[in-house]
Amino acid sequence: MFKATSNGRRKIKTMIDLNTLLRQRRSIRKYKETPPPEAWIESLIEAAAWSPSPRNTQPVRFIRLESAASRQNLQMAMLEGKELLLTKAAVCNRPKHLRNWINAYWRYSAFMLQAPVLFAVGTVKPEGGFAHELRQSGIKTPQKRDDADGDITLGLSLQGFMLQAQELGLGTCILTAPLAFIKTMDKITGAKEIAVKCLVAVGFADEDPPPPPRNPLDYIYRRI
Ligand SMILES: Cc1cc2nc3c(=O)[nH]c(=O)nc-3n(C[C@H](O)[C@H](O)[C@H](O)COP(=O)(O)O)c2cc1C
Repeated sequence: MFKATSNGRRKIKTMIDLNTLLRQRRSIRKYKETPPPEAWIESLIEAAAWSPSPRNTQPVRFIRLESAASRQNLQMAMLEGKELLLTKAAVCNRPKHLRNWINAYWRYSAFMLQAPVLFAVGTVKPEGGFAHELRQSGIKTPQKRDDADGDITLGLSLQGFMLQAQELGLGTCILTAPLAFIKTMDKITGAKEIAVKCLVAVGFADEDPPPPPRNPLDYIYRRI
């Protein structure tokens, strides 16, 4: 755990082992207003940058939604998307059921707008590679493989990011629910080349949620 200082430098209090970091990290949905020091935020991105990636292509990008305008654009896009979904839900065959889903997704999205730090996280398409070479040679290969590579790398980057945050005493939450409301993030991020896969909220936690249960080892692990 580190301590915030006025100039943003870190003072080591105690080092936490990886097992503890992994087990104590929780998705945080309520944040204190105090923003984390800038140097801490940069250290999260640096931790993310150390993830492995195919051919070391490092396709993951972090776009911080910092300005009031970018947050407002995000909120507007979400509200528009929600209204559209509610209108469609009203004339579908299970309107009440679907409305409940939309409202639940909204609850699991809207809290991010109150987070002191918010990122849109995505990937760029790496140039070249084996799949590209196969395609160039007229040999068909599924596009899905490229997407999976990007998604795996993004997940690994976020793990580094979140564990670094946990070590600093910061709360985080990955969100994909907002993307159900937003048609395209391009207009919000202004970066067409980055395919946004999720949003990530960061800040000092203002809640202490209990750990949700995990599946037992024999449920997720088999030897064949
Ligand atoms: C890919 C992904 C998408 C998620 N999307 C959301 C989301 O949109 N909103 C939210 O509140 N939590 C979201 N979460 C957080 C999960 O709900 C949370 O990780 C899970 O319930 C386990 O809780 P824990 O993170 O505290 O261990 C997401 C997590 C992942 C990995």
